[in-house]
Amino acid sequence: MKKEKPSKTAYKVALNILALGAKPEMAGILPSGIVNATEKLLISSGVASAKTVRLYRSRRMVRVYEFFDWMMPGQFEGFACRKAFCERQVRQSIDAGARQVLVLGAGYDTMGWRLAPEFPNVNFFEIDHPATACLKALGIKEMGLRPNLYLIAEDLSERKLSDVLSDNVDWRLSAQTVIVAEGLLQYLSPVEVRDLFAQCAAITGECRIVFTYISTGEDGRPDCGPRTRLVLWLLKVGGEPWLWSVRPEELGQFLKSVGWINAPELEGAAGKHGVEMYAVATKSSRTDTEQGTEGDAANHSP
Ligand SMILES: C[S@@+](CC[C@H](N)C(=O)[O-])C[C@H]1O[C@@H](n2cnc3c(N)ncnc32)[C@H](O)[C@@H]1O
Repeated sequence: MKKEKPSKTAYKVALNILALGAKPEMAGILPSGIVNATEKLLISSGVASAKTVRLYRSRRMVRVYEFFDWMMPGQFEGFACRKAFCERQVRQSIDAGARQVLVLGAGYDTMGWRLAPEFPNVNFFEIDHPATACLKALGIKEMGLRPNLYLIAEDLSERKLSDVLSDNVDWRLSAQTVIVAEGLLQYLSPVEVRDLFAQCAAITGECRIVFTYISTGEDGRPDCGPRTRLVLWLLKVGGEPWLWSVRPEELGQFLKSVGWINAPELEGAAGKHGVEMYAVATKSSRTDTEQGTEGDAANHSP
């Protein structure tokens, strides 16, 4: 990933959300208010012009996205399902008592900004690379700061999550927490992913982690569908290669080895959309973790 530049993939996700807003069938899937909030964020942060936003909110762009869906079938609408899945999980966790929400690699996601006023007794934290997080902070400032939304600019490849959060006076180790890693893990190396899960376990008490991931294909590379070779090449050339994937049948074992328990029963009917799999895990007790390290799960880099 080119660290000095704002994330292109975060921008692409945000543009995708705008285009999905121009598809009437998506109104029942997309979280309420997400399209307008994304538009505001892109414009107020200077990431996109009003003209670009207008273009992406048009039926014309829907047709363009639908045309390019041959590369990763289902991925266009998959972004609506992904946003809906993460927000549903966060809402359920808050209903179940979570008082902290942490979004890792938040990009131009607007969930924290939209939900913060609705849940004033919940603290929302977001972390992203400085190049992306600083632009977003400009936009949020103009859209209206939320007293319970904290944007943290850090590169998680360079600084441990536990160090980042222990420096933050508002982070509570004992608070029930939900962590979201949406569209992030594939960009990290296998070592970074293992470390991230272990760090997430270390900085929380009772906690649920909601994440998306790419399944490993038969050739050991991330499975991006029928055009895997082309897609992986384009991602690499674009400077944001996919590095981590795991076979769904090995996910439970992998999670166990890093201090988490796979909880597919909490997913609802989420499953897989486009090339991405959805998952939820809860934190395991120490004993579970110790047992988990005995049988380490395979995880793959291409
Ligand atoms: C594909 S984007 C997803 C953005 C957002 N989660 C969404 O789905 O709308 C991946 C995000 O992860 C961030 N990211 C990747 N590696 C990171 C790292 N090492 N530290 C912090 N952020 C990182 C990128 O800057 C980018 O914003």
